[in-house]
Amino acid sequence: MKALILSGGKGTRLRPLTHTGAKQLVPVANKPILWYGIEAIVAAGITDIGIIISPETGKEIQAKTGNGDRFGAKITYILQDRPLGLAHAVKVAQPFLENSPFIMYLGDNLIQDSLDIFLAEFAKEHLDALILLRTVSNPTAFGVAKVDEKGRVLQLVEKPKNPPSNLALVGIYFFSSAIHGAIASIQPSARGELEITDAIQSLIDREKPVEALQLQGWWLDTGKKDDLLEANRIILDTCLQIAVDGQVDAQSQVSGRVQIGANSKIINSTIRGPVIIGNDCHIENCFIGPYTSIADRVTLIEADIEHSVILQDAKVTGIHQRIVDSAIGQRAKLEIAPPRPKALRLLIGDDSHIELV
Ligand code: G1P
Repeated sequence: MKALILSGGKGTRLRPLTHTGAKQLVPVANKPILWYGIEAIVAAGITDIGIIISPETGKEIQAKTGNGDRFGAKITYILQDRPLGLAHAVKVAQPFLENSPFIMYLGDNLIQDSLDIFLAEFAKEHLDALILLRTVSNPTAFGVAKVDEKGRVLQLVEKPKNPPSNLALVGIYFFSSAIHGAIASIQPSARGELEITDAIQSLIDREKPVEALQLQGWWLDTGKKDDLLEANRIILDTCLQIAVDGQVDAQSQVSGRVQIGANSKIINSTIRGPVIIGNDCHIENCFIGPYTSIADRVTLIEADIEHSVILQDAKVTGIHQRIVDSAIGQRAKLEIAPPRPKALRLLIGDDSHIELV
């Protein structure tokens, strides 16, 4: 069994956080989203992993993620030079996949369930495809399945205007080598992409064994800001262990589950977990409230922040209003202007979204 992780694309839906980087590297609880997928795959015993990358962000993904040693895996990077669809990515990866069965994992998806049960079902039933479904409130944004009363898949449609159900296709699929023939038989969709949904539909039409299982736990497709904050909240809630390596002075209070990285200094501040703070941060006269992730080398002085994600090297100083539900990008600066003339002075990147009161 091999694994193919799709980590291409331009991440337009997470702009401006991804103007300078890959959406799959945006951290959730200070760890790139992509790495959660790699760890889940390795935990299920699969160590031969191909990662599809794009020309735009591939180098960064490769440099940060490495050859797999840190995960106990062997990673092969495969360039998809144009974003021609998920099924096209499988086609490009065929020399890596050969005739092996494989799990295909979209690099911006996070699920709570472990992969073991699904892998066992896939092997036991000798399936050509096993797909995972989850009820959603906005099925038009996903691939959607119509299933019969026994859970058998009758039809799959990509981003339907009139969804046949509210069961969305989760971005994690299990395939036998039969998928390659199915991909060879399909045409690009109206949006010009080779859709994996159409390839699976072609297996169904040819009465090949295709099954669907419903996810029990949570599923997050972290492609947007609110999903990112939600992923951050859930991971901090469920996975964060207490560990204080940095320095906390006597005037500070740290309560709940809090991680503070090496060389970080907490001065005269209150940190109320779950909160993760990376390495080399400077936090002074602050309140840091629950569900906040602060990456490496962040400076926060006179700030009050809750339920937010602050990326590396950002600086927030002298803001006497609470900052909530916010994502602050790498190297961003948020500060109070000199008192006169009373005016806002802004340098705001493309696609930014700022709410002032
Ligand atoms: C892709 C798939 C879609 C699936 C979704 C899950 O869509 O095409 O069927 O439901 O991933 O994340 P995309 O996010 O690329 O638009």
